[in-house]
Amino acid sequence: MKALVLGGGGREHALVRALSLDPGVTDIHCAPGNPGISEIAENHVLNVTDGLAVTELAARIRAELVVIGPEAPLVAGVADALRDRGIPVFGPDREAARLEGSKAFAKEIMEAAGVPTAKARVCRTPGQVSDALNEFGAPYVVKDDGLAAGKGVVVTEDRGAAERHARECGRVVIEEYLDGPEVSLFVLTDGAHALPLLPAQDFKRAYDGDQGPNTGGMGAYAPLPWAPPGLVDEVMETVVRPTVSEMNRRGLRYQGLLYVGLALTSQGPRVVEFNARFGDPETQVVLDRLATPIGAVLQATDTGGLGAIGSLQWKKGAAVTVVVAAENYPGDPTKGDLIGGLDAAGAMEGAYVLHAGTAWDGAREVKSNGGRVLSVVGTGADLRQARERAYEAVGKLDLRGSFHRTDIAERAAAEL
Ligand code: AMP
Ligand code: GLY
Repeated sequence: MKALVLGGGGREHALVRALSLDPGVTDIHCAPGNPGISEIAENHVLNVTDGLAVTELAARIRAELVVIGPEAPLVAGVADALRDRGIPVFGPDREAARLEGSKAFAKEIMEAAGVPTAKARVCRTPGQVSDALNEFGAPYVVKDDGLAAGKGVVVTEDRGAAERHARECGRVVIEEYLDGPEVSLFVLTDGAHALPLLPAQDFKRAYDGDQGPNTGGMGAYAPLPWAPPGLVDEVMETVVRPTVSEMNRRGLRYQGLLYVGLALTSQGPRVVEFNARFGDPETQVVLDRLATPIGAVLQATDTGGLGAIGSLQWKKGAAVTVVVAAENYPGDPTKGDLIGGLDAAGAMEGAYVLHAGTAWDGAREVKSNGGRVLSVVGTGADLRQARERAYEAVGKLDLRGSFHRTDIAERAAAEL
């Protein structure tokens, strides 16, 4: 199988790596990719939100599978363009991707499908904002209705800050605060069958102890030894099947990946958000644990036949990823600094480095080129060993001004 992956972050490096380990995948292309990806795939310069350009490239390289990594091409209709040309694609059509693209639409679907989630109000005027903040009380949760890469959400005790965020966004969703640990569950679906991946946990806040602003994610681990038995079955029953059915009922066949962001509250699992693509950095740890070759599975979400796969196989042990972020992330990250220690970090036992925001500096050196620069993965017999190995490898890296959280998977490893 010839595969083309769209995107150039840590998630896409993990996807390309997983495809490169699949004996059924012969050729891997990526657009735009990054320097790390270029070691295992052929990179192409391309505007990945341009459906015509993507379709032309896919046809030229005779791709039998196009894997759409980020949300922007999905919301721009790139999956529709590929399907129209009969090119198998991993990712939902534009209308279906609104489950991620519009928080208000996601809430509407959840309500219609009876999916457990936070109570919410869509607000346009300061009066509506004020009423909703009064109704739900502190901590306040205010979400930009559009795509904001995980950064459009403010969770705060500070009423002034909540009102300010609502004013800056225009249309917002204000909702009740959900307490309890968060879980990311990724589910593959062809619109008829659904296949869950291993649940993972992500760390959204920038600094240790869940302090600081929300980010795209500063680290992740899998599996979750503390997760209640039956969690995945319960979420498949109460969230995934009703959501996919409700989408079908509206003529929106959902094909690709449904990312279910959950809070495990005292009242049971509640959906915090849906995304229409793999999560970053959770994908880095989930795919590390996947034993089933990935190519045919991703392709089956489009061509059908997911039901015949049965269930996915997982490796024993654990994986932890730690994101190395640039100075000033998530605000206005510093770019263009040389990264030292990549070879030394990559040579550590049970660890490897995935590139996220990097670029070539000349022909040989790699520089920072984004907020989340690297995603270092450690693997081991259990979370404790995986975590140690991830942090040992992080310790070999050298990037001026960069920072990372030191408490990724700390609590889960201590509870083993
Ligand atoms: P979202 O983009 O909707 O996932 O929100 C980003 C992050 O904000 C989530 O991962 C949570 O950490 C936090 N968050 C969102 N909604 C809520 C909520 N209703 N209650 C508590 N935290 C929330
Ligand atoms: N890690 C959270 C996300 O990908 O949205």
